[in-house]
Amino acid sequence: MYRRILSGMRTTGRLHLGHYVGALKNWIALENDYECFFLLADTQALSTHFDRVGVLEDSVRQVIIDWMSVGLDPEKSSFVLQSWLRELFELTAYFTFLVEMGALEKNPTLKAEIAAGGISSVNLGFMMYPVSQAADILLFGRKTQAYGDHLLVPVGEDQRPHIEFCRDVARRFNSQYGEVFVLPEAKIGEVPRLGDLSGGTKMGKSLGNAINLSDPPQVVFEKVRSGVTDPDKKRKGDPGNPDICPVFSYHKIFRAAGVDETASGCRSGALGCVECKRRLAESLNAELDPIRDRRCAIEQQPSTIREVVIHGTDRARAIAGETMDAVREVMSLKYHSLERE
Ligand code: TRP
Repeated sequence: MYRRILSGMRTTGRLHLGHYVGALKNWIALENDYECFFLLADTQALSTHFDRVGVLEDSVRQVIIDWMSVGLDPEKSSFVLQSWLRELFELTAYFTFLVEMGALEKNPTLKAEIAAGGISSVNLGFMMYPVSQAADILLFGRKTQAYGDHLLVPVGEDQRPHIEFCRDVARRFNSQYGEVFVLPEAKIGEVPRLGDLSGGTKMGKSLGNAINLSDPPQVVFEKVRSGVTDPDKKRKGDPGNPDICPVFSYHKIFRAAGVDETASGCRSGALGCVECKRRLAESLNAELDPIRDRRCAIEQQPSTIREVVIHGTDRARAIAGETMDAVREVMSLKYHSLERE
């Protein structure tokens, strides 16, 4: 029996607060109780960055540093570089035959990503990334003889359709060829989605409004200062409505202890936006300080980053080999009669 975690992030740049509260905090909490595999999804990053491949290597490094700086421990968890696992490409290819085109065209997350822009042309690799994501997950989801195998996928709310889709692929595979895979379960974090400070729905790198985990204190202050507030509250003394204020939505998450006082001060007008933002930035910086310190220490030892990804991917490869062996066996692709004597 195993209790395993598989999750991942695209490596398209530095990570921001949205990744932290939406996923990473959740991962850290699970690290002690599960065998964890965290995927550096550089192949999936190609779905949007195939024309900017020059950024990928540094992004992989930065994501590794970000993960370690928030406290993930590469001794306990395996950091796995997606493009180094050839088995993923093979499993993806087999899965494509079990997927109907319509299922991808209807996928709400794909639709939202296309609608949000940033994707110049919808290429085939983009459309089928849920298939490769199903392979990412199920490569670690081979059912063993033991009863009670458990594969959890901790992700943000936006990824839920992909996990549903993955379960569907597993069911289809199992009924077509034989019971190889467990049905993985999504584990959605408590803070499902962090809006951005300009009032958008999701903190996006492309909009330049994200607060990165590696931003220095002054940059955090600046980004908070330029955040959008209730447009009817023009100066201190004006009553505001915290419920529509993007800055207040951050207070709820990062300054929870003072949230009632902030809300009532805003409503009465006693608390001005300048002071309110200053308090928020202070709290954010207090949370980010130890993360920045760890980042600094990790950057002093560049060889660690290399070792972490080599060892993590090696550990994953051992599991991948066993899964693919079982897959080829049930798919009758072993061709025993043609094997070398
Ligand atoms: N789609 C995820 C993201 O956008 C990254 C990812 C790739 C992933 N493979 C995964 C997440 C497998 C969970 C499981 O960040």
